[in-house]
Amino acid sequence: MEKLPIIIDCDPGQDDAIALLLAMSCTDELDILGITTVAGNVQLDLTTRNARLMCDIAGRDDIVVYAGCEKPLERQLVTAEKVHGKTGIDGIPIVEPRAMLGQAHAVDFIIEALLGVTDAPITLVLMGPLTNIATAFAKEPAIRNGVAEVVLMGGAMREGGNISPSAEFNILVDPQAADRVFRSGVPITVMGLDATHQVLSTKERRDRLRAIGSEPGRAAAAMLDFYNKFDSAKYGSNGAPLHDPCTVAYLLKPELFQGKRCNLSVETQSELTIGHTSVDFWHVTDRPPNVNWIHTVDANGFYDLLFEGLSRYGNA
Ligand code: BDR
Ligand code: CA
Repeated sequence: MEKLPIIIDCDPGQDDAIALLLAMSCTDELDILGITTVAGNVQLDLTTRNARLMCDIAGRDDIVVYAGCEKPLERQLVTAEKVHGKTGIDGIPIVEPRAMLGQAHAVDFIIEALLGVTDAPITLVLMGPLTNIATAFAKEPAIRNGVAEVVLMGGAMREGGNISPSAEFNILVDPQAADRVFRSGVPITVMGLDATHQVLSTKERRDRLRAIGSEPGRAAAAMLDFYNKFDSAKYGSNGAPLHDPCTVAYLLKPELFQGKRCNLSVETQSELTIGHTSVDFWHVTDRPPNVNWIHTVDANGFYDLLFEGLSRYGNA
């Protein structure tokens, strides 16, 4: 099987961190050209450090992390320490990372990579506010030709919002950036809260991760133990939703997900509903479809894939 060339843009966050560990375990399937970071769950210096720490835990000293935009296009940065803790990845010990920090700005790295595409276009896997990608598309519109697909976590329809009554966090942090990306014309698959709220990290699943015995398995379980406290209390659920890893799982096993092509438009004006994703699921407008909206996930299949991925790391 040809490896799929990807760039991962993220704001770790425990769920981003676990998505990175899953992606980095798939050395036969995924060719990670670089990891780019953006301000979101915590400030940029922390999301960048956290991404580098995941490379260390995964033993991937071949991967370079590039720091990107430190604030949204037009709005003040909103962060989510309440959910993720002060470090963004509370639950594991924080040490100075060894992984390579790229000299280039993430936006320039993304532009260079996409301009350099000759035969195999690149899949962009987006797990945070869309500031870096929107900036790259605006700076060099031609790079859109180098994009195979965007697979992103963001938005909500049936589930309502998780940061405001009507908005999901990644979209609310930078609605102007999201609006640009959804209007960009590139193929987009969206994991919104309707999908990610189906993959709950129950105690049984966390214990199964811990039992894998590898450092990434233990780190994933420890981060999830912390991350669960806030979300389980908030939703009264049996475990926190594991949002961002859905993007990577989709690349590896798309048959675990069911989606529908429809139009998604972002509210950028209203004070009350800014960041809301208006998903025309029943095609009641003539707005043209611009996304594959994922609505159903095989949660057991998703967790089997995660266990299988994190079990590929040697026990240590
Ligand atoms: C999204 O917001 C962040 O807190 C998570 O990392 C995820 O990307 C879920 O709304
Ligand atoms: Ca994220």
